[in-house]
Amino acid sequence: MAIAGRAKKVTTHTLQEMKQAGEKITMLTSYDYSLARLVDGAGIDVILVGDSASNVMAGNETTVPITLDQMIYHAQCVVNGVDRALVVVDMPFGSYQGDSKTALDSAIRIMKESGGHAVKLEGGAEVAESIERIVSAGIPVMGHLGLTPQSIYKFGTYGVRAKDDAEAEKLLEDAKTIEAAGCFSIVFEKIPADLATSVSEALTVPTIGIGAGADCDGQVLVLHDMLGITKDFSPRFLRRYADLGDTIDSAVKQYISDVRARDFPTDEESY
Ligand code: KIV
Repeated sequence: MAIAGRAKKVTTHTLQEMKQAGEKITMLTSYDYSLARLVDGAGIDVILVGDSASNVMAGNETTVPITLDQMIYHAQCVVNGVDRALVVVDMPFGSYQGDSKTALDSAIRIMKESGGHAVKLEGGAEVAESIERIVSAGIPVMGHLGLTPQSIYKFGTYGVRAKDDAEAEKLLEDAKTIEAAGCFSIVFEKIPADLATSVSEALTVPTIGIGAGADCDGQVLVLHDMLGITKDFSPRFLRRYADLGDTIDSAVKQYISDVRARDFPTDEESY
């Protein structure tokens, strides 16, 4: 079955088929219309409206401050630029941890107000009831285990997670629990590659890795990091595919210089 290159819209079922066919799933973040349009046009499978918008768009140190309204705004902008990719929207800190009714209300707001196709939330057994309730309402849920940035103040560092046996065993149990609760896919962030391999094999739903080795069913990166727009973040897992930071810097400097030298605009660029 030729799955690559399909023009059809990507759905959660497509991702399941891709896992079964052994075809890798590609996912990148986007937070605005213009970049989402480019990323979708290039053929990405999944666009994550990540709460990393808190860092990348707003300049906050953590993902904790971003609000549900702000996530909905970013998701609306992304949805407007997407024809094919599955758009997954992060549920921000505070919008689902309280109880499953709050979680459902937040997920419904995201779906109704943004037009996104699915939500993502962080955590294991402690959020299983919320996942079940959201999925029962017809909303697809992506899980997120390993390094869960919304809990940074509990863990204290952004280091690799589940390095010891106890934490690795807990991660496997959490993954099975949230799969059973109804997650259609799970992100593994910054965990040992061999753990990600064995947990991916133990699950029927596709896994998407970031700093979790090559054997997850798909990979995700933060767009601004892989394009080299953010400069001050260089974890080992990050491959930079472009140096747009430098490109933007020289373009802006050239513009400043042209305006100051009266080289811009020319007669041809005037009316
Ligand atoms: O918010 C985000 O960008 C994420 C990815 C790092 C998976 O959750």
